[in-house]
Amino acid sequence: MQELLSNVISTGVYIITVRSGERINGMTAAWVTQVSFKPKLVVVSIAPARYTHNLIQESGFFCINTLSKDDIELAKKFGFVSGRNEDKFKDINYTNALKGSPIIEGAIAYVECEVVSSVDAGDHTLFIGQVVDAAILKEDKEPLIFKWKDFFK
Ligand SMILES: Cc1cc2nc3c(=O)[nH]c(=O)nc-3n(C[C@H](O)[C@H](O)[C@H](O)COP(=O)(O)O)c2cc1C
Repeated sequence: MQELLSNVISTGVYIITVRSGERINGMTAAWVTQVSFKPKLVVVSIAPARYTHNLIQESGFFCINTLSKDDIELAKKFGFVSGRNEDKFKDINYTNALKGSPIIEGAIAYVECEVVSSVDAGDHTLFIGQVVDAAILKEDKEPLIFKWKDFFK
């Protein structure tokens, strides 16, 4: 059923980054979308078990890094280990968005958001964020579209 749903509803593949004081982290996410035009609001759906979930609750900000179609390996690196157990930024260059969230080198675009509300949704939390900073970084690259078989087969 999950594979079927992934085929019915197309999404990109993103790395959600966060900074809480000196600590930074990032995790791969496919459940990301814009939900309001005015104000500009986006939503990310993150399970409470994720380390990223804790850090977003602490900091009140997150950043969506859009991956290119060449970055499946990067998505796996951030999507199959937890920042609780490993520093996923060890070999990764990054700069900082306006509020300090990491912008991963290689991302084709980013949008940093301030959390304005959060909602429990089944086994995930929807963090709704208002856009505070955003840019396209690589005009010439195509985004990575989530395909179940690229990650789970
Ligand atoms: C392609 C892909 C998409 C994912 N999408 C989500 C998602 O939308 N929400 C979520 O909570 N976890 C998602 N995950 C799982 C997290 O990325 C994974 O549990 C990660 O290790 C959490 O890292 P953290 O503990 O450092 O935050 C996805 C994983 C992959 C590989």
